[in-house]
Amino acid sequence: MSTFNAPKGTYDLLPPDSAKFLAVREAIAAPLRNSGYGYVETPGFENVELFARGVGESTDIVTKEMYTLTTKGGDELALRPEGTASVLRAALEANLHKTGNLPVKLWYSGSYYRYERPQKGRYRHFSQVGAEAIGAEDPLLDAELIILADQAYRSLGLREFRILLNSLGDKECRPVYRTALQDFLRGLDLDEDTRRRVDINPLRVLDDKRPDVQKQLTGAPVLRDYLCDACKAYHEEVRELLTAAGVAFEDDVKLVRGLDYYTRTTFEFVHDGLGSQSAVGGGGRYDGLSEMIGGPALPSVGWALGVDRTVLALEAEGIELELPPTTEVFAVPLGEEARQVLFTTVTELRRAGVATDFAYGGKGLKNAMKSANRSGARYAIVAGERDLAEGVVQLKDLESGEQNPVPLAEVVTTLLEKRA
Ligand code: HAM
Repeated sequence: MSTFNAPKGTYDLLPPDSAKFLAVREAIAAPLRNSGYGYVETPGFENVELFARGVGESTDIVTKEMYTLTTKGGDELALRPEGTASVLRAALEANLHKTGNLPVKLWYSGSYYRYERPQKGRYRHFSQVGAEAIGAEDPLLDAELIILADQAYRSLGLREFRILLNSLGDKECRPVYRTALQDFLRGLDLDEDTRRRVDINPLRVLDDKRPDVQKQLTGAPVLRDYLCDACKAYHEEVRELLTAAGVAFEDDVKLVRGLDYYTRTTFEFVHDGLGSQSAVGGGGRYDGLSEMIGGPALPSVGWALGVDRTVLALEAEGIELELPPTTEVFAVPLGEEARQVLFTTVTELRRAGVATDFAYGGKGLKNAMKSANRSGARYAIVAGERDLAEGVVQLKDLESGEQNPVPLAEVVTTLLEKRA
């Protein structure tokens, strides 16, 4: 205990669980690295206006959930609530779209911040791994991204997730639908807050979880019936590509998503073992975002997968990741001379690439062996005065308990051979 605790809605990643988080991040990144996506890293905060314009003035994220701050210099900044606007901003700023090599494919991994009501699976600080393909309108790209997310989840052993798919139309057909939906919603018995939402973001009303609202929504116009021919054809192609790739999905005409920049393809990955915070990832096309933040027309598509929720999904399915032990060899010196000698051996082992740790702090044999076992190491090297006098160390297999003397000069090669 100290005087301080982690702030509300946050938690610390500590060993051994933290290794799981790293492995999940790596598993999500691996298919991206393998598919032409380059790593991008942007600052943890941005000009607040970037998110207001990009994510949308009327979204919960911008109106309620952003951590904003005014710097001593008077800049209005916000901790990033998501990655897409930042990544696009960075690509535009560096003129990556002008190299004649579109789409610009980028992936990222990092911390995001939303002032939400904390509960299991919903935190104020969380981690995403994301991917964005910027500057191409091609249904193959939408399909590629969904296939890669599916591959990532499957590589972790996850099976109980579903892919929800929808099209939100484009700047031709969505406004027509929006008006039709507003006409319908204005005829309902809704509270003042919701009526205001009807004016500024009517599609979000479809997401309202309250049963009395849901009941009234039966018979609401459905976007699918308003899609223009181009959007319909695009969506159909994405669906066919996924089917051809053997990736199962469910059409969800109600899927809206909580960010305003989406057009056409939208999708969410939901896990059935997670309760109310079931979305483990989500994304879609955002053909108008670049123009919304002052850039040229750059149709793009991407997703972000939540690392925290993916870890919870693994736990829900009872999946133990096979993580290599962090320590392979543990050195146990008995006496001051052995401390010096074994420390040299440890350094040599580490330089040879063997993960090695040491019983620091002058522990007795019993305690030191306890540390060795706890470290997960397969081997311990133990040496006392008598061993050193004979030029050997004791090499102990912690699994079988077998122990043999090995000449000090041969310890490194012997261990390298054993682990091969
Ligand atoms: P999002 O749906 O807001 O999309 O977030 C993606 C994922 O991040 C969610 O599915 C969830 O797993 C995780 N997540 C979001 N908020 C929290 C939270 N408070 N606590 C824990 N996990 C959370 C985006 O952020 C878009 N930028 C995705 C995208 C990329 N669209 C296009 N490109």
